[in-house]
Amino acid sequence: MTGPRLALAAALLWSCTSPVADANSWWSLAMNPIQRPEMYIIGAQPVCSQLPGLSPGQRKLCQLYQEHMVFIGEGARSAIKECQYQFRQRRWNCSTVDNTSVFGRVMKIGSRETAFTYAVSAAGVVNAISRACREGELSSCGCSRTARPKDLPRDWLWGGCGDNVEYGYRFAKEFVDAKEREKNYVRGSEEQARMLMNLQNNEAGRRAVYKLADVACKCHGVSGSCSLKTCWLQLADFRKVGDLLKEKYDSAAAMRISRKGKLELVNNRFNMPTQEDLVYVDPSPDYCLRNETTGSLGTQGRLCNKTSEGMDGCELMCCGRGYDQFKSVQVERCHCKFHWCCYVKCKKCTEIVDQYVCK
Ligand SMILES: *[C@@H]1O[C@H](CO)[C@@H](O)[C@H](O)[C@H]1NC(C)=O
Ligand SMILES: *[C@@H]1O[C@H](CO)[C@@H](O)[C@H](O)[C@H]1NC(C)=O
Ligand SMILES: *[C@@H]1O[C@H](CO)[C@@H](O)[C@H](O)[C@H]1NC(C)=O
Ligand SMILES: *[C@@H]1O[C@H](CO)[C@@H](O)[C@H](O)[C@H]1NC(C)=O
Repeated sequence: MTGPRLALAAALLWSCTSPVADANSWWSLAMNPIQRPEMYIIGAQPVCSQLPGLSPGQRKLCQLYQEHMVFIGEGARSAIKECQYQFRQRRWNCSTVDNTSVFGRVMKIGSRETAFTYAVSAAGVVNAISRACREGELSSCGCSRTARPKDLPRDWLWGGCGDNVEYGYRFAKEFVDAKEREKNYVRGSEEQARMLMNLQNNEAGRRAVYKLADVACKCHGVSGSCSLKTCWLQLADFRKVGDLLKEKYDSAAAMRISRKGKLELVNNRFNMPTQEDLVYVDPSPDYCLRNETTGSLGTQGRLCNKTSEGMDGCELMCCGRGYDQFKSVQVERCHCKFHWCCYVKCKKCTEIVDQYVCK
C-alpha cells in the first residue's frame, strides 16, 4: 500500500513548494470591486495587469473584453453568496479567507466542496454576463437571439429582449476555462486529474444556468385583457441554480485518472457522470478541526442548533466536542400595525434566546 502514502507525500511536497499564489484565482475579482468600465481610460492596459488572480490567458481576455470584467466580478460575488447560503449549515461553510485566494488552500484539494465551488462560480459568470448583454452593458452582445420555442402558442409574440444565455455561456467557457487549458500536464498525473475535474465542474455550472433559463411572457392588450403576449428568454433566479448544483454536489461522482489520461469512475457500478454532473478526485479533508495544511477552518465557534439532528445540529457540527451555551439578545419587529394609508408601523421587541457554539 505505498500508493496512497506516496500520493500524500507528493501532495504535501507540492503544497509546501508551491507558492501561495497558486491558490489565486479570478474569484478575487469578487473581492476587489472593479470600477465601472466607463471610469477606465480607453485602451488602458494597466487595469488588466493590476487585477489579481488572473492567469496569463485570462489577462489577455481581459484586455480584449475589458468591459466584461465588472460583470465577472459581479458573477463571482453572487456565486460566493450562493455558496455560503447553500452551505450555511455545513461544517465547511464556504467562508472566504482573504482577498487573493478567496477560499484559501482548501481549494487545492480536489474535493466535492471544491467541485461545487468551481461549478457555482462558472454559473455566476454565465448569469452575470447573460444579463449584462440584455441590459445593453456590453458592446459585443445584446438581447438573446434564441429561436422561438416550437411549443409557444402561435398568437404569442416572440421578441422581447431576453437574457443572452448563449453569449454568457460561450464567454464564460472561454474565460473561466482558460486557466485550465494553459498548461500541459503529464498524462495520467494528479495535476491532469485536477484539470479535468475543474473543466467538468465548470461545464456543469454553466449548463445549470442554461438549463434553468426559461420563457417569460408579459400581457398587453386593452386594459389588461391579455389579448396579446410577448415572450422572451429569461434567466432563472440564481437561487434555483444554487439549489440544482447543491443536488449535483450530493450526487457528485468520485473519479480517478486513468493511464490514458481520462477520468474514470472509482466505483464503476455507478453511471458515468454526464456533462451536467459534478465530479471530484480527492476525499474531503476533515472540516472539524482547524488545519493549516489543508486550509480547513474547523468548526470551533460555529453556531449550532441544539435540537436538530441534521448537519446543523450541535452533535454533528461540533464533531462530538461539545458546545457552549450563551444568551443573546435578539431584536425583532413586533406589534406591527397597518396605518391608513399606506404604511406599517412596528415596535422593536427584544427577546433573550439561548444560542450554542461549538467548543
Ligand atoms: C480586501 O479588499 C477590499 C477592497 O479592496 C478591502 O477593503 C479589504 O480590506 C481587503 N481585505 C483584506 C482581508 O485584505
Ligand atoms: C492536517 O491535515 C493533514 C492532512 O490530512 C494531516 O496529515 C495532519 O495530521 C493534520 N494536522 C493537524 C494538526 O491536525
Ligand atoms: C464559517 O465558519 C468559519 C469558521 O468556523 C467562521 O469563522 C465564519 O464566520 C463562518 N462564515 C460564515 C459565512 O458563516
Ligand atoms: C433547530 O432545529 C429544529 C429541528 O430541526 C428546528 O425546528 C428549529 O427551527 C431550529 N432552530 C433554529 C434556531 O434554527
